[in-house]
Amino acid sequence: MESRIEEAIKVLKMNDRGGYTVPTSRLYPYQWNWDSGFTALGIWHFNKWRAWLEITALLDAQWEDGMIPHIVFRQNDPDYFPGPMIWQTNTEPPSSGHSQPPVLASVILKLVEIGSGYDLRKAREVFPRLMAYHRWYASARDPRGTGVIGIIHPWESGRDNCPDWDIGMESIEVPADLMRYKRRDTAHVDSNQRPTQDQYDRFITIIQYGRQVGWNHHDIHSNGPFLMADPGVQFIFLRANRDLLELARRLELTDAYDEIQEWIQRVEDGCNWLWKDDIGGYCARDIRSGRFSDAITNASMLCFYGDVGSDEQRASMAAHCRRILNACRYGMPSWDPEHSDFESRRYWRGPVWAIMNHMITIGLADAGEDELANRIQSDTRQLVEMNGMAEYFDPMDGTGLGGMDFSWTAAIYLDQSRDGVAAHLQNAS
Ligand code: GLC
Repeated sequence: MESRIEEAIKVLKMNDRGGYTVPTSRLYPYQWNWDSGFTALGIWHFNKWRAWLEITALLDAQWEDGMIPHIVFRQNDPDYFPGPMIWQTNTEPPSSGHSQPPVLASVILKLVEIGSGYDLRKAREVFPRLMAYHRWYASARDPRGTGVIGIIHPWESGRDNCPDWDIGMESIEVPADLMRYKRRDTAHVDSNQRPTQDQYDRFITIIQYGRQVGWNHHDIHSNGPFLMADPGVQFIFLRANRDLLELARRLELTDAYDEIQEWIQRVEDGCNWLWKDDIGGYCARDIRSGRFSDAITNASMLCFYGDVGSDEQRASMAAHCRRILNACRYGMPSWDPEHSDFESRRYWRGPVWAIMNHMITIGLADAGEDELANRIQSDTRQLVEMNGMAEYFDPMDGTGLGGMDFSWTAAIYLDQSRDGVAAHLQNAS
């Protein structure tokens, strides 16, 4: 049997569409923002220039205002909905109308840390693009400077159908003139693993609104159908800013320091708004109504990655982490298994995702929570070794779910198996 390392490399090569990588064929036939970030990290271990090409291809789709869209449509694939004709963003290349968790700066810093002069040179080339992206996040997603980053669509969180968005989704009124559409996802994957029809109508309502205002993000933030704070995007953006500052230091780009430091300060101050006292943890929150979601998710667990919280808050989050890991066989589930809405096989309502585990592990290790970090890291490895490169996994029995031959799962596995990849490449040559 071929090794999982060989298989992971094969998956990434198979999903290569000539300069960019699709998450998996058929189900996701385009380039996705945070998928490409993690995928570049995986590819880097066997092909450095191709890893950078992944990043520069994504940056090629950056909007003039700095936004990096969540999907880049380089060809029209009738198999996917909603495609470019639905978004109508009028960009070149065609793209969707909002962003995704901004992991890119953190991935690039990692490549510089483990890489060579080549990586430093590439990082210097793209640095102004990263600054523009963060500037866009800081202004378009927090125009009043509150330090709380708002997402305008559940898809912007990357955790598309998580119950975290139920509060914001409930208040969306689906207009009578909602465009008629036919979804394609359920043609590829069992519908009980995918979002419901009612949820889909609300997802599309937000897109219709964006279209009507010509994707003016200040308008969408103020008046759009949905505006929530996501612990995931909040902590990932904070971490990405810290990493961007470190990158600026390594590149000796002193002019950038002050601006990045301001973003860090502001977003750090905003995190406490997501703290829910009776849960003793960070939860998603509707920005307009102030209503909280009521469960600990794998995004809540990124507080360590963002490096936030008082000693008491950190202790409370570590206790949640221990409790949740005791309640399932494989961590870290995307929704608290002891909460009544937990569904072990439905997408972001329970399953384990390798990319989230990757970031959670980094955060826990940085915080000195080695036991928790090791448990999650070894769970990720076991899941892939037992069941392959699935999109996500059942936390109770480890079953691989969603799309198979999935790029980011393969990429995280390669990053975790760095030494093995080096040995494999040496044997192969
Ligand atoms: C799903 C996920 C999202 C991911 C995309 C492509 O929509 O929820 O996070 O980027 O698939 O893999």
